[in-house]
Amino acid sequence: MSTTLAAVVRAPGEPVHTAEVALPDVGPGQVRVRMAAAGVCHSDLSLASGRLAHPMPAVLGHEGAGQVVALGEGVTDLAVGDTVLLNWNPPCRACWYCANGEPYLCARAADASGRVWGTLADGTGVHPCLGVAAFAQETVVPAGACVPVPGDIPPVEAALLGCAVLTGVGAVRNAARVQPGQSVAVIGLGGVGLAAVQGARIAGAATIVAVDPVEEKEELARSLGATHFLTPGDDLARRIRAIADGRGVDHAVECVGRAATIRAAWSCTRRGGTATVVGIGAATDTLTLNALEVPHFARTLRGCMYGSSDPAADVPDLLKLYRDGQLLLSPLVSRTIGLEDVGGALADLHSGRGARSLVVF
Ligand code: APR
Ligand code: ZN
Repeated sequence: MSTTLAAVVRAPGEPVHTAEVALPDVGPGQVRVRMAAAGVCHSDLSLASGRLAHPMPAVLGHEGAGQVVALGEGVTDLAVGDTVLLNWNPPCRACWYCANGEPYLCARAADASGRVWGTLADGTGVHPCLGVAAFAQETVVPAGACVPVPGDIPPVEAALLGCAVLTGVGAVRNAARVQPGQSVAVIGLGGVGLAAVQGARIAGAATIVAVDPVEEKEELARSLGATHFLTPGDDLARRIRAIADGRGVDHAVECVGRAATIRAAWSCTRRGGTATVVGIGAATDTLTLNALEVPHFARTLRGCMYGSSDPAADVPDLLKLYRDGQLLLSPLVSRTIGLEDVGGALADLHSGRGARSLVVF
């Protein structure tokens, strides 16, 4: 047993605060990681606000990297000192989905979120955000949640791979399977959307329309590969179609998590095009499609979890793109913060300010 500082939310809608948490020693099959850096993702905000249900109280953070400091019994494929990034959706490799080649849909991946991760000073148990609890000086995770990263990769850059990049680049490459010369619209330019813009550039898309209400994001989006930038409005879908020969884009990637932007993603694609939904919205926010348009436009509406990725296989591939200079990580970080600033970073996400805030330990 030892204590660690962590960013805790007591109940949905309550402010996040820094608290000391007693962390048990690693159990069998677990790994203790000293965090180096962790990105603040919109899903942290959604969990803190209660928009997405999660066992509470919780230690936030699910996108991070650090160093292995202790191994539980039976963990043989990692060593103390290894740099790892955290996978918030670790596949069990045994369920129907894993056997079917869809580890991102693993039936057991969410189990780790329900466990008691540590204990607050008043004796209350806390749960780890998406099984990971990255906003803590040290965390204990299942070994399967650790993805080794070569020692020469700075952990502050590796951290972003854990959610934003696997999700955004994966949506474009694994789910949409964008082909060279195609047109892509990316709606929502947070960490996930800006990664999707890069994924589209890496896939060889000829036209990349980036959309966000925050106009300051234009320059960054263009530097990462966007060929056009639009702010949303009633006629967004029509304006995107106009850029894509009036026909519509081959692919739209929704990275906001709202019915209205999913609708725009659907409507801006060409007949036979594909809208890939990455954003995670509220169960009460309903999308309407009429019975004529679905067959007439012959589009595909595709949901996408964690970039349809298997981090064990995708991270080495992403790191190769990073080393080749194709995948840029540091521009995704708009500011670095301390653990005590997580609440402010969540407020920034709420207002759409900046790209990723990165907690550096
Ligand atoms: N149209 C386009 N963009 C919008 C709109 C809109 N109507 N409303 C908000 N946005 C922009 C915000 O300005 C912001 O830049 O969407 C972006 C969302 O970015 P972040 O809040 O940084 O979210 P991110 O962490 O990138 O996650 C995006 O993916 O994994 C999910 O839960 C996550 O739903 C979230 C989504
Ligand atoms: Zn995330």
